[in-house]
Amino acid sequence: MVIDYDLAIIGGGPAGYHAAAKAAKKGLKTILFEKNAVGGVCLNEGCIPTKTLLYSAKTLEQVKNASKYGILTEGNPTFDLEKIIVRKNRVVRKLTAGISAHLAAHGVTVQRGAASITGTSADKINIACNEEPFTASNLLLCTGSETVIPPIKGLSECAYWTSKEALESKTLPASLAIIGGGVIGLEFASFYNSLGVKVHVIEMLPEILGVMDKEISAMLRTEYTKKGIHFYLNAKVVEATEQAVIIEKEGIRESVEAEKILVSVGRRANITGLGLETLNLACHRNGVKVNEYMQTSHPRVYAAGDVTGFSMLAHTAIREGEVAVDHLLGGKDAMSYSAIPGVVYTHPEVAGVGQTEEDAIAAGKPFRVLKLPMPYSGRFVAENELGNGLCKIIVDDAERITGCHLTGNPASELILIAGIAIANGETAVSFAKHVYPHPTVGEIIKETLLLI
Ligand code: NAI
Repeated sequence: MVIDYDLAIIGGGPAGYHAAAKAAKKGLKTILFEKNAVGGVCLNEGCIPTKTLLYSAKTLEQVKNASKYGILTEGNPTFDLEKIIVRKNRVVRKLTAGISAHLAAHGVTVQRGAASITGTSADKINIACNEEPFTASNLLLCTGSETVIPPIKGLSECAYWTSKEALESKTLPASLAIIGGGVIGLEFASFYNSLGVKVHVIEMLPEILGVMDKEISAMLRTEYTKKGIHFYLNAKVVEATEQAVIIEKEGIRESVEAEKILVSVGRRANITGLGLETLNLACHRNGVKVNEYMQTSHPRVYAAGDVTGFSMLAHTAIREGEVAVDHLLGGKDAMSYSAIPGVVYTHPEVAGVGQTEEDAIAAGKPFRVLKLPMPYSGRFVAENELGNGLCKIIVDDAERITGCHLTGNPASELILIAGIAIANGETAVSFAKHVYPHPTVGEIIKETLLLI
């Protein structure tokens, strides 16, 4: 017998599992198909494992710097990489178990296996998984993305790492060449630099961290240059061997020796092997096309998360999944991308939301930049001996906040406040009137706004 559902979701990452729990809670009979572990790339081989490793690296750095704070430790602090990886796996197991329990508590049916669409009838979508047929009135595609491997000469013959292998290695290379100075590249550069690996970051653009505010990205690069990372900007990797990568910069070739290569040049949407052709969905260059309700060109098929090839962030994916479920339940919710925070979990962290200074210049409308060094915050000074950082806020000609960019801990936690200000159309004056707890690093936002 074919079991029929109100909603079938393919892919159990952040978009899929949040949407599944929400839909089931609202009374929809929901099935979630997942071919690997629930939690997706984010939980199993992305956000959570990297942040767990980075926390170990940060702890090591704090112990090494303890004497700055009057704390004396004996000997040379060191680490046990095997224990770091085992702890990371324990964190992942705990969280995936939590998600499975959450889905079960909401009555979501989780079907393990690779699902594909086999056809449609007047009001149903037909799906097969493990050779079993299922039907559903609505479908939500949350199939995520995969690492892009660039066609670099010799690369396919090398035992290179992607982020997946870099998260699992229990041995350290003496040196590491990272191809791509984006978010993944920088987070792994930070981790391996803390553990004493000689790190090279090769980025073909003039600055690291593509979409972030350039001033903030340059500050992070300066910080990590001081910590010993070698950056090669405007440099393209054109060849790879087991011992080195060959880079080309301004027409000149140079060999950068490295024991290991990490490839982090971006991700692409998973849209093949799913039977999407049976739905005849409109696609763009890197994913399934959706409208503001996350509806694809088929009115009963929605898509959320990296498969849309747009924002490619777990937090965007979660919100997109919510919007899709709200819409199919008849709600008026719509997706907005104007205040999506971007965070890089280096040490120090960097974070940004809304317009960068470069965006504001390109928009060609009047704007102002308000900025203050992080040491204006008493709490920042107390907790970051000799530390530097910046809070930069962009306002338009009506003094409305349109962007905020931070470097300095805990930028990842503070950026939400600025995102709320942008989403709510707050002005510098209105948002500075809120009472900010003292002493907190968050007060830097108020202090910067008061420059208006
Ligand atoms: P990315 O798009 O952030 O950066 C890739 C970089 O590689 C670009 O700057 C590009 O110019 C450069 N590049 C491409 N080909 C190159 C070549 N041949 N030689 C030198 N440089 C080259 O991609 P990344 O870092 O792989 O991340 C993938 C996705 O995962 C992104 O969408 C990112 O937002 C997401 N992500 C987000 C995280 C976070 O929110 N903290 C953490 C990790 C990933």
